[in-house]
Amino acid sequence: MSSAVRIAPSILSADFARLGEEVRAIDEAGCDWIHVDVMDGHFVPNITIGPAVVKALRRHSAKPFDVHLMISPVDNYVKDFADAGADIISFHPEAGPHAHRTVQLIKSLGKMAGVVLNPATPAKMLDYLIDDVDLVLVMSVNPGFGGQSFISSQLRKIEAIRKMIEKTGRDIRLEVDGGITTETAPLAISAGADTLVAGTATFKGGPDQYAANIRALRGE
Ligand code: DX5
Ligand code: ZN
Repeated sequence: MSSAVRIAPSILSADFARLGEEVRAIDEAGCDWIHVDVMDGHFVPNITIGPAVVKALRRHSAKPFDVHLMISPVDNYVKDFADAGADIISFHPEAGPHAHRTVQLIKSLGKMAGVVLNPATPAKMLDYLIDDVDLVLVMSVNPGFGGQSFISSQLRKIEAIRKMIEKTGRDIRLEVDGGITTETAPLAISAGADTLVAGTATFKGGPDQYAANIRALRGE
């Protein structure tokens, strides 16, 4: 199981003054996806990066760009991120009134569509979305900042969503984001996660450590 786990480093923990080099370094260190946290200072209490930065980073890695939108409203920016080179676009259903429409919009642009559940958002939110999504992202911290502690109640939610995914018979990624460390990664994986976002745990120790950090998160 552990070798099948995808690691998606969150570049929120990278050195923003050297972002292109940082993306190349995690790519060469063996990550699977590049996780990009987009925050608007409105839906979440922090401001990070926009489509122009995603576009500039695109030439630094051929690996999938996993763009996590923490913005409200969502729909008017989806095309900008698709054009900038996002491969997977995820959004929070609370950020706009028409989650089903947002999923269709992302898919109409030929991108993988993901729905993100905040710690207080129940798995039930997915009942009428799961048949259309390509990815479910479970937040194991409240969105807004890196370096927070894993909220263990989310393990039950991961288990419940894994069952929902199995019922669909479709190939839907189950990703976990927030507080992933070598201690919490195995818990998330045994609960049913197949993709782990890790900011602090990937970037700690500087570029020489990235490959070892990624291997450790895979349980290798
Ligand atoms: C939080 C972001 C996460 C975060 C993860 O809003 O979505 O991707 O950067 O950071 P760590 O791994 O440090 O908890
Ligand atoms: Zn994220």
